[in-house]
Amino acid sequence: MGPSLQLERCATGIEGLDNILGGGIPRGNMVLVAGSVGTGKTTLSLEFLVRGAERGERSLFISVTEASAKLIQNLSTFEFFRTELVDQGSLVFVDLPVIYERLGLSNEELNPEEIGILIRTIRDLVRTLGVRRLVLDSLTSVCYRIHKDEQIRDFMLRLGEELKEAGCTSLLVSEIGPNPGRYSLHGVEEAIVDGVVLLWNARRMGDILRVVQVVKMRGAAHSRAQYVMELTPIGILMAPHLKGGREGGA
Ligand SMILES: Nc1ncnc2c1ncn2[C@@H]1O[C@H](COP(=O)(O)OP(=O)(O)OP(=O)(O)O)[C@@H](O)[C@H]1O
Ligand SMILES: [Mg+2]
Repeated sequence: MGPSLQLERCATGIEGLDNILGGGIPRGNMVLVAGSVGTGKTTLSLEFLVRGAERGERSLFISVTEASAKLIQNLSTFEFFRTELVDQGSLVFVDLPVIYERLGLSNEELNPEEIGILIRTIRDLVRTLGVRRLVLDSLTSVCYRIHKDEQIRDFMLRLGEELKEAGCTSLLVSEIGPNPGRYSLHGVEEAIVDGVVLLWNARRMGDILRVVQVVKMRGAAHSRAQYVMELTPIGILMAPHLKGGREGGA
């Protein structure tokens, strides 16, 4: 790639993250947002969508673990969130359990045919609504219902292709333990995605800090340094992680 050729970026609108990424996520990339409980995965993903919706990019949040009505309620405590975005239809929430029910996907384990139905449903939503930014919260809960590594791989590859073709940039939330040794439930997910953003809790002098690190991002020269992340009413702020004092993962 020549020095002047840069892939089109999808600016997340989270200034700190865009600086780390050198402008944003290469458009069409599928990115894993991995972290343990309370590290800010949902908040970061939601701000990505809100900032997109503000720029006129239709944004879709597919909720699996929390009911979207409750999510919107929580989101209202942030100043950066505006309910008009939802009312106008620029920010769309969909509950996956409702879709599962509508499609009759009631088996604990999804078979290949059902996985195909799920992918087509997401693809149709993205195409019909013209979705430019998508969040799946969480990929982990979808993958709990897909038991074979081979089928996870197939699901992720096909989903990634569909989203790329639609020019849709996506964040897939991955719930992991505090010291997991990998970034996803099965471990195959992280190999297929285009990017991995890792969030964790670090202890310093008795406090717990949220830390963020971009582990990989295909198509972008990015910083791999650690940044402290703060969830504030006006949005997520990031600052270099100065590693003084006592440290430890959590
Ligand atoms: N209005 C607010 N302003 C600042 N911080 C907030 C606000 N509302 C919630 N928080 C913080 O956000 C945290 C929750 O973050 P979030 O839900 O994004 O994490 P998560 O990684 O998705 O967690 P989980 O694994 O439980 O889904 C809360 O524990 C709280 O510290
Ligand atoms: Mg969450």
